[in-house]
Amino acid sequence: MVSRLLDGAHLAKDSRRGPEVLHDAEAARSLAHLHLAPLGNLWAHVQATAQHAEEIAAVAGPLERELLICAAWLHDIGHAPAAQRVGFHPVDGAVMLRELGWPERLAALVAHHCEARLIAAACGRSRQLSEFAHEESAVADALVYADLAAGHDGRRPSLRTRLDDLELIQPGDGPAMIQARAARRLPLIAAVHRTEQRLQGVHPALRSA
Ligand SMILES: [Fe+2]
Repeated sequence: MVSRLLDGAHLAKDSRRGPEVLHDAEAARSLAHLHLAPLGNLWAHVQATAQHAEEIAAVAGPLERELLICAAWLHDIGHAPAAQRVGFHPVDGAVMLRELGWPERLAALVAHHCEARLIAAACGRSRQLSEFAHEESAVADALVYADLAAGHDGRRPSLRTRLDDLELIQPGDGPAMIQARAARRLPLIAAVHRTEQRLQGVHPALRSA
């Protein structure tokens, strides 16, 4: 039943693997644990992201809440050594999930999380990313919210600190990548704000917070 929620009653199961395969939040947590627990801080970050997603899951429709939580568990699975394909973790994770038979919408959310298209354009991975559909939705926004609420070590930073961290120049970054990292800031803030507004609609008491 739970896997039906992942793709709007489609993809209840992986037809290649048989009816016993469920793609629910527990399966997502297990897969993330298998591949990311050895990676230290990243596992702490992913656990915190999933926790934040659970906390705000009400912003998504009833049929999409588990999708959001699964995406939170798996959004950084592309950092796992076993996921390495093209060297761009959003696409690597999405391809891995597709290969494992996870619902296409989940793979696409992972592929595009946190404005990955801007980074993809700067590192020559737009074609690979374009193989996954981009969606604008409460679920996609909530995934941004949860990811940004979780610092690299799992602790909750301020939004400004988290965004500053995402803009840190990495070894090998050229001007296009530096610009792309900075260009994510406003759309990410917008996604966080939309999620906060939806939360206020779900929990009116938050209006005075
Ligand atoms: Fe993340």
